[in-house]
Amino acid sequence: MTAPSLGVCYYPEHWPEDWWERDAARMAEVGIQWVRIGEFAWSRLEPTPGNLQFDWLIRAMDVLGQHGLKVVFGTPTATPPRWMIDKHPDMLPVDAQGRTKGFGSRRHYDFSHLGYREECRRIVQLLANAIGDHSALGAWQTDNEYGCHGTTYSYSKAARDGFRIWLAEKYGTVDALNAAWGNAFWSMEYNSFDQIELPNLLVCEPNPVHDLDFRRYASDQVSAFNKVQFDVLKARRADLPVIHNFMSRYTEFDHYDLGESIDIASWDSYPIGHLAVSDEPVEIKRQYLRQGDPDNAAFHHDLYRAVGHGRWWIMEQQPGPVNWGNFNPDPLPGMARLWAWEAFAHGAEVVSFFRWRQAPFAQEQMHAGLLRPDNEPAPAFLEAMQVAEELESTGLAGKASKGRVAIVYDYQSEWAWDIQPQAQGFSHGAHARALYAVFRKHGIDIDVLPPSTKSFDGYDILAIPALFAWNETLRAAISEFEGRVLIGPRSGSKTEDFSIPARLPPDLPSDLLDVKVLRVDSIPSDVEVEVNGGGAVHHWRERLETSAEVIIEDAKGWPVLVSQGRLFYLGASGNRALIQRVADHLVAEADLPILSLPAGVRCRVRGGFRVYVNYGAGAASLFPADDETGYVLGSADIPAAGVTVARLATAG
Ligand code: GAL
Repeated sequence: MTAPSLGVCYYPEHWPEDWWERDAARMAEVGIQWVRIGEFAWSRLEPTPGNLQFDWLIRAMDVLGQHGLKVVFGTPTATPPRWMIDKHPDMLPVDAQGRTKGFGSRRHYDFSHLGYREECRRIVQLLANAIGDHSALGAWQTDNEYGCHGTTYSYSKAARDGFRIWLAEKYGTVDALNAAWGNAFWSMEYNSFDQIELPNLLVCEPNPVHDLDFRRYASDQVSAFNKVQFDVLKARRADLPVIHNFMSRYTEFDHYDLGESIDIASWDSYPIGHLAVSDEPVEIKRQYLRQGDPDNAAFHHDLYRAVGHGRWWIMEQQPGPVNWGNFNPDPLPGMARLWAWEAFAHGAEVVSFFRWRQAPFAQEQMHAGLLRPDNEPAPAFLEAMQVAEELESTGLAGKASKGRVAIVYDYQSEWAWDIQPQAQGFSHGAHARALYAVFRKHGIDIDVLPPSTKSFDGYDILAIPALFAWNETLRAAISEFEGRVLIGPRSGSKTEDFSIPARLPPDLPSDLLDVKVLRVDSIPSDVEVEVNGGGAVHHWRERLETSAEVIIEDAKGWPVLVSQGRLFYLGASGNRALIQRVADHLVAEADLPILSLPAGVRCRVRGGFRVYVNYGAGAASLFPADDETGYVLGSADIPAAGVTVARLATAG
């Protein structure tokens, strides 16, 4: 594996050609090695149908290559040019209210539209032919941020037609569909697949499995759309990696599925913007206004490591204020460096900043870059330069170490609880992230894994929170797993067809876990039920019937955490104090080594190094851990936005 390196996103088509040379020279001076270009340039590559203008692109790649820079070429399919709409007027996406979205921004296409998919195959093939052998080309990116701006779901005719075919393939006969969906309810039975509509514009809520199947269908369209490009690019250059850039907390398609047709996963990390637009409590938003949530980026680093089968990048890293929050705070000095270091600690191969120069025109003119619009360095320019030097001086290398804790994260569970929350806002992701944060507080390395994982061998603790439905692989994996397993709340509470399982949730054999959820008490999140010994239940509270040992119960005598052998069941959503207690109990049972970290500090092990980052507003002091032999960067006194790297006695 090559040493970790820096990149930047660059738009040669935005600048006079006589600027390219100086830009490339300065990128090289910063220590940048990768430059992503092209992903929005279709109108310059093919200004009118069939009129191909690739010369400028090749000249731009020549200039970058002359400065030793490697190019990630982004296929331009996220921004079809205006003429495309004249050619395919029905390719525009339709929202859930039935309104067609128009041209004039980006992502104005429908994943189900086969005519547009074919146009994409065509332009990608032409570009691959033209630049596939260019010496500067190092990787491809497909499209840009699939699904961004709410574009996974389109309620168009193309989607409806595709959905009917998809259903017919899945169920074979309409009777089988009626049975699986339980359509005897409310006389919803169909006589043929052609009668089935999309689950929008109904009088009240659709059958949840109708909605879930539509989401599964839509997710498959995103993967199929990507696969067309992947196949073209791999056929042209099997040796070059194909990458896609995913997002934060974006759940509308199954990223693990799409991960089967890319070589490297990447994601676009804007920690301050993501916190600003999240539903985190206002105190957290205030506390980390200029740093971003201290666990959100890390969670996604670990998630996308799984999506990319171990290989992942940051394709876009926030460099300063963004433009898309209600407010867009300036990061604390040093944060661009910290974010890059944290990503490298979690195994990133490349961290690429968005963007080289702030554009003085169009939608993103208030979005910072490494350079200001007047070509002078913005703060992140110098921070990037510092990171490049530090990567070299520390010799950080190797892979992110295997975690001691695994958390199962599942896209279908996100869809299921979005469809039927039962308690407003109940979400799979929120439960997974809450567990992530409480284990991480002890400096424990975590892996986020898909529900299709065949074996959890080697982990000490496995957590499966709020999982919609079991699959056979996961059932087998947990019964063979020898470590501690934490299940729930709400895990295994549905079948794949979105019905309540016959033996009631969590739907496990009683010799493994003798727990039945008899009913659920769902209460507004601001109403708390105290828990004996500390912490509180809120939002979701299950009435359990169990012969398992009760470890934690609430003040009303309802069991909250129970255990049977190495399996633990959590029957509630808890506040932070309760979830921390649950994690601490498992950590103690598993006898896991823990670190004592100051409040804002987080860490991760990669290769023979432990990287500490300080998200706190003030300086902190680290206690050297037993396995460390000294610091190769920074010291035990870690300032706000600081980074300290310790060398470990044994290489990871
Ligand atoms: C990303 C996108 C970029 C740019 C950036 C601004 O979502 O991929 O093209 O818009 O946000 O923060």
